[in-house]
Amino acid sequence: MKKFIVTPWEVSGDIDYDKLIKEFGTEKITDKLLKRIEKHTGELHWLLRRKIFFSHRDMNWILDNYEKKNKFFLYTGRAPSGLTHLGHLVPWIFAQWLQEKFNVEMWFQIPDDEKFLFKPKLTLEDTKHYAYDNILDIIALGFDPKKTKIFLDTEYAKVMYPLALEISKKITLSTARAVFGFKNEMNIGAIFYTSMQSVPAILPSVLKKKNIPCLIPHAIDQDAHFRVSRDVLPKLGYYKPAAIHCRFLSGLSGPHGKMSSSDPKDINTIFATDSAKTVEHKIKKYAFSGGQPTIKEHKEKGGNPDVDVSYQYLTFFEPSDKKLKKIYEDYKSGAILTSELKGICIETINKFLKEHQKKRELAKKNIEKFMLRA
Ligand code: TRP
Repeated sequence: MKKFIVTPWEVSGDIDYDKLIKEFGTEKITDKLLKRIEKHTGELHWLLRRKIFFSHRDMNWILDNYEKKNKFFLYTGRAPSGLTHLGHLVPWIFAQWLQEKFNVEMWFQIPDDEKFLFKPKLTLEDTKHYAYDNILDIIALGFDPKKTKIFLDTEYAKVMYPLALEISKKITLSTARAVFGFKNEMNIGAIFYTSMQSVPAILPSVLKKKNIPCLIPHAIDQDAHFRVSRDVLPKLGYYKPAAIHCRFLSGLSGPHGKMSSSDPKDINTIFATDSAKTVEHKIKKYAFSGGQPTIKEHKEKGGNPDVDVSYQYLTFFEPSDKKLKKIYEDYKSGAILTSELKGICIETINKFLKEHQKKRELAKKNIEKFMLRA
C-alpha cells in the first residue's frame, strides 16, 4: 500500500478511507445509522446513499437530542484562498440539505485569518476579497437567509476573540505539535489559529446562553482541528461538537487526492465560475480516463469506471442512482466509450453549473441578509 497523507494542509497519495477511520478514531456510517437519519429526513441524499459521506463522530448523540426536541445547529467553513471549485461545494451541498431537512441553523465561518497566516503570498486584502467572492457560491446553494449566519474571522473578531482566548489557554504547544505537526519555522499566528476554528462550535451556545448541540459537516482533512475542539470545549463547560465527514473529490488528473485551487490552474481544477466551454475543454483534455488505449480494445475488454475521473464526478453530481448504475455497467462492458462518458460528465456538470451561476448572480444583492455583524 502506498503512503498517503491527510492533514488540514496536505492531502496526497491513494487515500484508504477505512484506515483513516481507524487512525482518526471516527466511526463508519453504517446502514443502521442511515436508516435512523432517513426516519427524520424522509429520503437520503445521494452523497449519503453512496457513502461519499462515510464517517462521523457522535451522529447518534445528535439524533438522540433531536428526538428529544433538543435541536442541533450546523457549523462549517471555508478558508478563502482562491476561487471556489467543485470539491469545495460537496460538503456545502450536503449541509444545505441537512439544514432543509432538519430545519436548523447554519453558522458558516470564513477564516480569512487562516489563509493569510498559512499562505505566504496572500495579503489580508486578498483573503477578504476571496471571502466575499466565495460567499456568493455559498449563498447560491440555497441556504435559508433566516437561518444562516456567515462571518469573516477578521470582521467578527470582537465576539470571537475572547472565546478563542479561553480555548487557546487550554491548548499547549506540545498538543498543537502532536496534532498538527507544527515545525519551528511556523509563524505563531498559524499555531494560534486552531482556537479560532473551534469558536463557532460554541458560538450559538454562548450567544443564546444555553448549550446547543453542534454538528459539523466537513471533508475529513479538517478532523485534526475538531479533535482539539472535542478535547477542549468540554473543559470550558460546552458539548463536544459532532461531525459528519466526506471523502474528497479528486482533481482532473487522477482518481486519488483532492481537487485543489493551488494546483497548476486550468489542468486539475474545475471552478464554480468556469464557463460551459471551459468545463468541456478541461474534461475532454485532462480528465483521467479508465478506458483502454484503443477503441477496439475498449469494446472488447471494457473500461474501468472505478478509476475514471469523469465517472467519479458523476457519483458526486448525478442524483439518479438508476442512471449512474447504467453508466457504470455500460462503461465496464465497453458499450460506451471514454469520449461518450466524458460527454455525459460534461453535460451533468454544466447543467449544475448553469443553475449555480444564475443563483450566484442573484446572491450578489443578498449578501447582507446572511452576514453576522458585530
Ligand atoms: N480550515 C478550513 C479550510 O481550510 C475552513 C474551516 C473553518 C472549516 N471552519 C470550518 C471547514 C469548519 C470545515 C468546517 O477551508
